[in-house]
Amino acid sequence: MTKSEGTRQGDGSFVLPACRRDKRTVPLSCHVKQNFAAYVSDYDADDPKIALKIKHTYRVADLSDEIARSIGLGEEDVYLAWLIGMLHDIGRFEQVKRYGTYIDSESVDHAQLGADILFGEGRLIEKFTDDRKTDSLIETAIRQHNRFMLTEGLDDRTRMFCDILRDADKIDILRVNYETPMEEIYNTSREEFLASAVSSEVMEQVRQHITVTRDVIKTYADHLIGHIALVFGLVYPRSRELAKEQGYLDKLLSHPMKDPGAREALEEIRGIIGAG
Ligand SMILES: [Fe+2]
Repeated sequence: MTKSEGTRQGDGSFVLPACRRDKRTVPLSCHVKQNFAAYVSDYDADDPKIALKIKHTYRVADLSDEIARSIGLGEEDVYLAWLIGMLHDIGRFEQVKRYGTYIDSESVDHAQLGADILFGEGRLIEKFTDDRKTDSLIETAIRQHNRFMLTEGLDDRTRMFCDILRDADKIDILRVNYETPMEEIYNTSREEFLASAVSSEVMEQVRQHITVTRDVIKTYADHLIGHIALVFGLVYPRSRELAKEQGYLDKLLSHPMKDPGAREALEEIRGIIGAG
């Protein structure tokens, strides 16, 4: 855990450094960060899987704040977008603790688990906000954040907060995929990953500028392309800018693949994304 996220004291208590005064609603966000730090202090921050999700949470919250500002939301709604970012992956910690993995298909749907922890019997949500009017919106955004597509029939405001969160999450997934060792993300060696080929069905979907569906992903290179193709699902213009600005998209496209077909595929995708 980094200094900005807080430090554990000798007696086991947990303190955050004084919260910065920035544009955000300071006392509330400070309170949320402290309670988040207190919640995750019950989990093993030395486990790289836990550390990764703590960092991811702060990044997604900050990205949500930035996307919300870019579409002209007022301070209260910017704060709500940030808060949803802070809470969206709260189920990850219990998932990793119980199952030792954050692969949902091998354990539990972490979005449902997180929403149950916040809004179920324990009502963890009350540690983060006193405003009960936003409960249902926050719950929906969390439950929907890892779905391939949002459910039909959401009202415009709920859909907007879902989209902000999903954009922010996708943008940071690009970083996570680049920074995390191959062994951890793909469960394979770098050599095997670099030698893998790309399936034609994956490229067919990429050429339609759509997010790649799980059923066509067969190889490690397919997985990589599936992650890169998340940019096709970004809703807001600022999200697409952020995805490019942070540089990880370019890095993911620059993997020195050994398979000629995979190299060509990455070049083709670079052209598609560059052309916007
Ligand atoms: Fe998530």
